[in-house]
Order: sequence, then structure tokens, then C-alpha cells
Amino acid sequence: MAIKNTFVQKAYPCLLGIETSCDDTAIAIYHKGNILANISIIQHIHKKYGGVVPELASRDHEKKLLFTLDEALKKANINLYDIDAIAFTQGPGLMGALMVGTSFAKGLAMALNLPLIAVNHLEAHIAAIFIACPKPKFPFLCLLVSGGHTQIIAVLDFDKHMILGSTKDDAAGEAFDKIGKLFGLPYPAGKHIDDLALKGDATKFNFTSAKMSNLDFSFSGLKTQVRYFIGKMETEDEHFIKNNLADLCASVQYTIVQDLIAKCEFALAHKQYHGIGLVGGVSANTQLRSATANLAVNYGIESYIPSFEFCTDNAAMIAMSGLFKYQKQDFVDLSVKAMARF
Ligand code: KG4
Ligand code: ZN
Repeated sequence: MAIKNTFVQKAYPCLLGIETSCDDTAIAIYHKGNILANISIIQHIHKKYGGVVPELASRDHEKKLLFTLDEALKKANINLYDIDAIAFTQGPGLMGALMVGTSFAKGLAMALNLPLIAVNHLEAHIAAIFIACPKPKFPFLCLLVSGGHTQIIAVLDFDKHMILGSTKDDAAGEAFDKIGKLFGLPYPAGKHIDDLALKGDATKFNFTSAKMSNLDFSFSGLKTQVRYFIGKMETEDEHFIKNNLADLCASVQYTIVQDLIAKCEFALAHKQYHGIGLVGGVSANTQLRSATANLAVNYGIESYIPSFEFCTDNAAMIAMSGLFKYQKQDFVDLSVKAMARF
């Protein structure tokens, strides 16, 4: 593949980021420290199924990618020939959805004879921090909480991470979504629980999360606990959920946030970090954001919490992560394949 042979490294490359790991079709353009465009098209098609249907996600990405690219180019006010490299999500994620994005990126790289950069979706969530904060102090602790992952990570450098703990079953976002489904809330339920919790009393119901001895998490027990609890209460009052929805949401959210924060605090108490970062879709959660910021204040360290548009899946973080690989000339050739798992 001739990509590398013709390559001239630029100090300020214009990067195209492509994200299709789940149910957001997203394209972003990054140049000289600025996100010129960050277009995300959320697939509403999954709502009626109460979760992402992989085959539908792939087909929808296929339909929307070209349009999303056009929108991004328009927003950035550039044309395709201004782009210097193509960064795409290689995985982890839904295999079919990743394959659509990978093929699209390969096609563009081949047609434009540009370097191709394969990005790890989880590393990209961490890279979202550097969009707003280009010079964080290393090492910092990072809580990565999304629909598919929950990890506590030591971030040693821009592209050097060490996973300290992770969930043994459901991810935090999955817990929000599955418990939200039990409450009859639409998918994804995280934002609905967040909004309802603002009006509820978190002390009304006492839920507990599984106690793990180290920095690992377990959220599937909480879901079962909530299911049995509401099942029992509904036999006494058939409108129990409806009549107590805000308090139920507040109590569940409190339990999840407490657990996440307690683990971060444990990590901070045992090792010196200069800051704490919060990334992934669940980092959009109001209570989790303020609890993380408070934790940083208590420990006299900085907090790195990206703005909402960079919390949930987006392509700006893919372009940002791609930049670090571009600087190291860490390119892939056209034989690269999507990887559902790493
Ligand atoms: O990172 P993300 O967009 O996709 C994955 O890579 O999974 O995360 C999506 C997850 C969903 O589970 C969604 O319910 C959750 O993030 N989420 C929230 C909030 N906004 C999105 N969870 C709690 N509170 C929110 N405000
Ligand atoms: Zn994600």
C-alpha cells in the first residue's frame, strides 16, 4: 500500500474522525487545536426495541455516513482535499457497525491517498479530555463510564494508560438503561433517570451495590435487587412505579454514583494523582459530574470533565485520539479489520 511512501508529516494536520461503534453515526474534523465540525446523528430506530439492534445499526450507518460527511465538511467550511489523515473507530463495539465505518474510512483513504489511523474507542473517550484541556498534568486518574464499559484507569501520558479496575458484569450505563427499562423508561434511560432524579428523594429507597474488594465493579446485582423490589411493591400497589418514579430514579442513581465515586476515592487515597478525569456517556450524568468535581476539590487536584457534546459517543474524540497516532506515524494499511473486542 503506497500510503506511507507518499506521506509528508504536517505540524498541524487536518484530521477526519469517523465513529460508528454503536448507534451514533458521527464525523468530526479537527485542525490546529480546534474541532471545526462534530456531527453526530443518533439512531432513533432502536427506541421501540428497548436496546440497540446490531443489524439495524449497521444498515443505518451505511445510509447516513455520506450525508454526515457532507454536513461535517460544510460545517468546517473545507473540502475533502483539505484533509490530511483519516481516523476511524476500529473497536471495541458492534461488529457490523464497526465494519461499515472501517470500510468507509478505507474507501476514503484509498480514494484520497491519505494515511489511515485505527483508533481504539475506549482510548478515544479518554482523548476527549484533551479537546478542552490540551495540557493536563500526568498521571491522572480517569473514570470511564459508558453503555458498554466501566473502568478506572491511570492515565500516564496522552497515549499511555493502565486499567486499574473494571466491571465484572454490567457497565454503569447498562445498569442505568436496564433499570430504566424496568421503570418503563425509553432507551437509553440514563438521561431520563438523571432528569427524573433531580425531582426525587435519593434517601427514599435503600439500594446497595455489590461490594467488590478491589477497584472492580459489579452492577448486575443492583438491577436484580431493583427488579425484585418493584415486583414486590407492585403486588401491594399496582401504580407503585408511577407514583414513586422520581424517588426510585434518585435512589438508583445515588447508589450507582456513590459506588463509582467510592472506588475513585479509594484509588486517590492509595496513590498520588494530579487530577481526575470523567469520560464516556455516563459522564453526562449531573450528579456524577458534580461528585467528581467535589472529589477533586477534596483532594486538591484538578478535574477534567469534557463538555456534554464530547461525553457520549462522538467523532471529535476519534479525531483527537487519531492526532496522537498521526504524530507517531502509527498508521494502518488497507488490510486493517474492524475488531469487536480488543
Ligand atoms: O459512551 P456512550 O455514548 O456509548 C457507549 O460507548 O456505550 O454511552 C452511552 C451510555 C448509555 O448507557 C446512556 O444511558 C448513558 O451513556 N448516559 C447517561 C446519561 N447520558 C447518557 N447515563 C446517566 N446519566 C446521563 N445523563
Ligand atoms: Zn463510547
